[in-house]
Amino acid sequence: MTDLMKMIHSAQNALKKSYSPYSNFPVSASIRSVDGQLFSACNVENASYSLTICAEAAAIACMVAAGQYQIKEVVVLGAGAELCSPCGACRQRLREFAAPDVLVHICDLSGVRKTMTMEELLPVSFGPHNLEKKHDSISD
Ligand code: THU
Repeated sequence: MTDLMKMIHSAQNALKKSYSPYSNFPVSASIRSVDGQLFSACNVENASYSLTICAEAAAIACMVAAGQYQIKEVVVLGAGAELCSPCGACRQRLREFAAPDVLVHICDLSGVRKTMTMEELLPVSFGPHNLEKKHDSISD
């Protein structure tokens, strides 16, 4: 199984755990950090709607809690008919830990629908470099 297939498989499992009773729109994300670990999570909604945690944010939190700060590849998975494109806030969240050339695969239940780089998703981004807090692998 390729790394990407493992990520999609892991995201498919995480999608089943989605807590999305208000939107009925399950989303999952799988992040591979540069050391090869996978961190997968789902969206977590709240009766106070604005407290909802996106799948990408949850997966990033898992990665950071494991002491990893550099993203190698991302899968975002949604089951809807439209492309499950990461929201603007999550593009910024991913950018914090992902270099501009990192691939983000936008998937549905049958696999990859569109692959974009971080730079394509969030061009001319404001990131750690603006504050001169460069990670080893995160450059302009
Ligand atoms: N959602 C995500 O988890 N990630 C995104 O990038 C877009 C939106 C979730 C939030 C909410 O639970 C549901 O999708 C509908 O907006």
